[in-house]
Amino acid sequence: MLLAPSLLAADFLHLEKECALINESAADWLHLDVMDGRFVPNISYGFPVISQLRPICKKTFDVHLMIEEPERYAEDFKKAGADNLTVHYEACRHLHRNLQQIKDLGMKAGVAINPHTRVELLYDVLPMIDLVLVMSVNPGFGGQKFIPHSYDKIKTLRQEIDRLQLSTLIEVDGGVDLANAAALVAAGADVLVAGTAVFKAPDPAAAIRAFKNC
Ligand code: DX5
Ligand code: ZN
Repeated sequence: MLLAPSLLAADFLHLEKECALINESAADWLHLDVMDGRFVPNISYGFPVISQLRPICKKTFDVHLMIEEPERYAEDFKKAGADNLTVHYEACRHLHRNLQQIKDLGMKAGVAINPHTRVELLYDVLPMIDLVLVMSVNPGFGGQKFIPHSYDKIKTLRQEIDRLQLSTLIEVDGGVDLANAAALVAAGADVLVAGTAVFKAPDPAAAIRAFKNC
């Protein structure tokens, strides 16, 4: 299982320190949530933060775009240092074209789905993507409660990915903690995103170790 702590829950006054903690930990990716105040009712951070963190952070930059018209910014996210670029199914009128653009730019391409979006809607693009991000809360905020129906979505996706013998990763984001981590992996998740459960833990390094051992 890969662990991707979400920077959204980090201490924004001390991002350098938070990055050092991630660098020294067993975390695999750093999950970066970008929000535009239109696709989701919140605004987070963008290029200046990501590009300044890039040289000091050793981990894969897993950028989750919660923005409308993500194709307008794909190239800028590549320049800022994104390794994985995930766009929302619900935000893309021409999803196939947008995914092709991300791949042509040399990034791994992901598609995120909101809690109301059926996994079957992704089947036509599954062979061309590197990851599916199953949102287990409604996107826009950290610290929300996990939606249990997400388990069924992960299991259905796992079956289809295995049936087609694809290497597409299943990533779960929202309300992930040490209490549900093992069950999510058992359901078929490959990557767990955790914001609150890592950065708001009394000992974030210990929390990361606990996730990796679950
Ligand atoms: C929510 C973001 C998540 C968020 C998760 O819209 O996509 O990545 O940081 O936070 P927790 O782990 O606190 O639910
Ligand atoms: Zn996210």
